[in-house]
Amino acid sequence: MIHKIVIGILVVSLTSAIAQDGATLFKNNCGMCHKLGARLVGPDLINITQKRSKEWLNKFIKSPQSLIKSGDKDAVAILNEFNQILMPDQNITDTQINDILKYIEENSPQTSATNAPTQEPQKPEEPIISDKKAYASLVEKGAKLFDGRIRFQNGGPTCVACHNVNSYAITGGGSLAKDLTDVYTRIGDEGIKGVLSGLPFPAMKNSFENHPVTEEEAAAVSAFLRQVSKDSRETNPFDYASLLVWGGLPGILILLGIYSFIWYNRKKKTVNHSIYSRQIKSY
Ligand code: HEC
Ligand code: HEC
Repeated sequence: MIHKIVIGILVVSLTSAIAQDGATLFKNNCGMCHKLGARLVGPDLINITQKRSKEWLNKFIKSPQSLIKSGDKDAVAILNEFNQILMPDQNITDTQINDILKYIEENSPQTSATNAPTQEPQKPEEPIISDKKAYASLVEKGAKLFDGRIRFQNGGPTCVACHNVNSYAITGGGSLAKDLTDVYTRIGDEGIKGVLSGLPFPAMKNSFENHPVTEEEAAAVSAFLRQVSKDSRETNPFDYASLLVWGGLPGILILLGIYSFIWYNRKKKTVNHSIYSRQIKSY
């Protein structure tokens, strides 16, 4: 009797250990970029096991890069949808992938594959700004950290070494990595802080692993990126094309006036007239 209970407890704790394993694996390997129920750096993975086959998922998770290179249509489409941000290849076993997929499945609402809801990408939550002045100085600090006018406390490289943003507040950045002008709109405060603390991209891991960005610094940079994406959505880019048309029009009219003045004399007799006289002569 006692034995049966002990075995029962063992089985229960074993299965919960496995379930937890999936959760932990997900959190540690995927959580900086993926969430269930919202998009972050990468797509929302809710119900993913209904959308894609296990086999495809296994291949994709191990090496998105090889699947994309092989020309797999779905993989290429997701890459394009996600602004060409490439998910790094994961050093992960089949069993670990199974555990992660099981965790995802258990934490996705049960729906049949055919009428799985097409998820509207959820907007990242906006933090509430209570003190506008403090916020403005946070944004300014973020801009200075971003382009190196203020050094990171732990000596990490400036963001402009690799990234650019479209903002008058900073001087031109690098093009090694993606432009971050609208990154806040896509991944939000949580996503940016997640990238800075989790360092899911190899290039950033190399740069910041031993020089972590502090929480305060991350908050400032995130506030700056929020402002940049807001500004770029609100300002109408100056319309050079119509300037050319409307600025050019008076010029063209003046030129036409000058030409018609110069040619005035020559036009007294029409072209037809000279042709007519030539033909008369040849008779
Ligand atoms: C550095 C960020 C990052 C990490 C870490 C990461 N992913 Fe991704 N993932 C992405 C991005 C970005 C995409 C979409 C672009 C692409 O195809 O590369 C993606 C796409 C996916 C897709 C395809 C989704 C679809 O709609 O078909 C799956 C599945 C996936 N990831 C699973 C995982 C799992 C599981 C892990 C953890 C083992 C993981 N990812 C870790 C960034 C990441
Ligand atoms: C050594 C180069 C390097 C530096 C320095 C660097 N990054 Fe990155 N970052 C990358 C690369 C590479 C990626 C992966 C995406 C890509 O290919 O552009 C990335 C991705 C990101 C992403 C996710 C982009 C997205 O669209 O989902 C964010 C956010 C980000 N970086 C913020 C920062 C911030 C903030 C700093 C400064 C604290 C910084 N990075 C410094 C190279 C760098």
